[in-house]
Formats: sequence, C-alpha cells, structure tokens
Amino acid sequence: MKILMVCLGNICRSPLAEGIMQTKLPQDFLVDSAGTISMHEGEHPDKRAVKTAANHDVDISKQKSRPITRSDFEIFDKIYCMDASVYKDVISKAQTEEEREKIALFLEAAGEYNNTEVPDPYWGGMEDFEKVFQLLDNGCTKIANHLKRTSHS
Ligand code: 4NP
Repeated sequence: MKILMVCLGNICRSPLAEGIMQTKLPQDFLVDSAGTISMHEGEHPDKRAVKTAANHDVDISKQKSRPITRSDFEIFDKIYCMDASVYKDVISKAQTEEEREKIALFLEAAGEYNNTEVPDPYWGGMEDFEKVFQLLDNGCTKIANHLKRTSHS
C-alpha cells in the first residue's frame, strides 16, 4: 500500500502528514508527500514544521519538496489532499476514473465532514503549526487504523 500526502508547497502540511503517518503504519506501507506547485522544489521542510515535528519526536528534517507528477497517479494507491483547492487541482490532473478514486480530502478520509480543510500555517506562527500537527496526528491515527484493517500491505 502506497500513500501520498499532498499540499500546495510541500514544505509545511504534507511533510508533517508524511512524517506522522510513517509513525503509525508498519514498514510495508510506503508514505511520501508532494506539492501542487514546484516553487519550493528541492527545499527541506519549513523550519517551523521541522521544529514542531521534532517537539513530538518526529523527524521530517531530511525530506525534500517535490511537485506531484503524472507517475504518482499510477504508483500510489491513496492520495490525500490537505484542502479543497489542492483537491481540485489534483483531481483535475487525474486521467481515469481509477486515478480519481484514489484521491480524497485528508480530513474527510479521517471521518471529519464539517471542517475538511487543514489550514495553511505558512503565513502563521508556531501555534498554527502546532494546531496543524494536532489535526494531522488525529487524522493519521484514524486513517492508519482504517488502512491497517482494510489492507494487507
Ligand atoms: P504548504 O504551505 O502547502 O502546507 O507546504 C505553503 C508553503 C508555501 C507557500 C504556501 C503554502 N507559498 O506560497 O510559497
């Protein structure tokens, strides 16, 4: 089972989601992340995201930003989008019904139907990164439990 977390820049939310999800799934699950823009390609995650993760013993410092590519739609089984605008962008790049079925809003997949957006903390402060960490941590727990029940690797 291969899981891709997607946000806009791939330097704040999806790197956190990747790092957190890796702590909740066995080694035979592959977790990666990407962005819908290539502006930060090759950069490590935002320092505030790295620090927030480290505060919770999650190391995301070695990740590097990359844009989502066509092959991601073939390689990955699940593609979780951090907000509605990212979802819209990713869905528009899918070419088949099978590819579209892989794509979900992260918080909806976690059973949250009221507030489905993971807010972008890029323009905020450390407290916003901590709030995003908590949202992602709770969501990853729910999604990981579901994936472990319904998949065998
Ligand atoms: P992310 O946050 O999508 O969670 O990685 C952002 C990172 C960079 C920008 C916006 C959001 N930006 O405009 O450069």
